[in-house]
Amino acid sequence: MTGVLVTGGTGKTGAALVDQLRDAGVPVRIASRHPATADPDAIRFDWADPSTHEAALRGMDRVFLVPPVESVDPLPLVEPFLRRARLSGVRRVVLLGSAIVLPNAPSALELAAQVRAEPGWVVLRASGFMQNFLRPHPLGERIHRLGEIRTAAGDGKVGWIDVRDIAASAAALLEDPEVRAGGGDFLLTGPESLSYGDTAKAITVHTGRRIRVRRIEPDEQAAAYRAAGLPAGFAAALATVEDGIRSGREDRVSTTVLDLTGLPPRTFARFVSEHGNEWRAK
Ligand SMILES: NC(=O)c1ccc[n+]([C@@H]2O[C@H](COP(=O)([O-])OP(=O)(O)OC[C@H]3O[C@@H](n4cnc5c(N)ncnc54)[C@H](OP(=O)(O)O)[C@@H]3O)[C@@H](O)[C@H]2O)c1
Repeated sequence: MTGVLVTGGTGKTGAALVDQLRDAGVPVRIASRHPATADPDAIRFDWADPSTHEAALRGMDRVFLVPPVESVDPLPLVEPFLRRARLSGVRRVVLLGSAIVLPNAPSALELAAQVRAEPGWVVLRASGFMQNFLRPHPLGERIHRLGEIRTAAGDGKVGWIDVRDIAASAAALLEDPEVRAGGGDFLLTGPESLSYGDTAKAITVHTGRRIRVRRIEPDEQAAAYRAAGLPAGFAAALATVEDGIRSGREDRVSTTVLDLTGLPPRTFARFVSEHGNEWRAK
């Protein structure tokens, strides 16, 4: 049997990818720490438990790789898996990486470099997710509860992308592992870059609920992320990222989604129109 092992297969991007691959008739294996017993394609997989890796890879010739989430040091857990994937002849790995480089996280860069170095294996450098504006992400929780965005990013802009467009791009690369590896590196963004002020305005206009933007310092942002349950190191790194956004570092868009899928990426306005009920005052 050949097919695609989808790690993070129960997450936002992975689940959308599973749907797209199934629609295209591609066999999938859905990796999760808590596999759905009713789904014959589901398998138990835990980055922290290497004994689950071999069975997950068995027979699969392609992998969608969502590294351990909320970690600034993913490499120690992923490196043995990559070694095993090379040995078992995996032809394509598509790594869900980030356009936004976390400070103090050299192992995430090393992980991307290791994937890129393998012929046919590719890295998606995804921009900020539009789905961060939905619960349970701390940003979405705050908008829902208080009608407020707190940010240290000032007027800095981000090329927000809908995870469904990341999934569609990944599907294009995984349906046929022989094509489109390019340089092994794809910057994935939405069609425009927007500040938090722009996003608040878009939600306000659509829902009629006024969403305020409160400017805070990176220290306060880190404390807020910790209070929302993120590990301290990851919370600090995310807060520093906002400083980078403020300086304009993430103000960029690419044509990759259109190039890979033949369809333009979804706009933030469309995303908002599809999720209006999420933010309307109760
Ligand atoms: N949010 C952004 O703006 C942004 C931007 C660029 C890149 N990214 C990257 O996107 C990734 C997250 O993607 P997503 O939002 O689609 O995922 P998500 O919805 O947060 O879901 C996380 C997935 O990871 C799995 N998972 C968590 N811990 C695991 C473990 N120990 N072993 C195996 N699987 C585990 C979960 O599966 P189970 O719970 O079922 O085990 C779930 O399927 C992160 O690596 C992040 O760095 C995010």
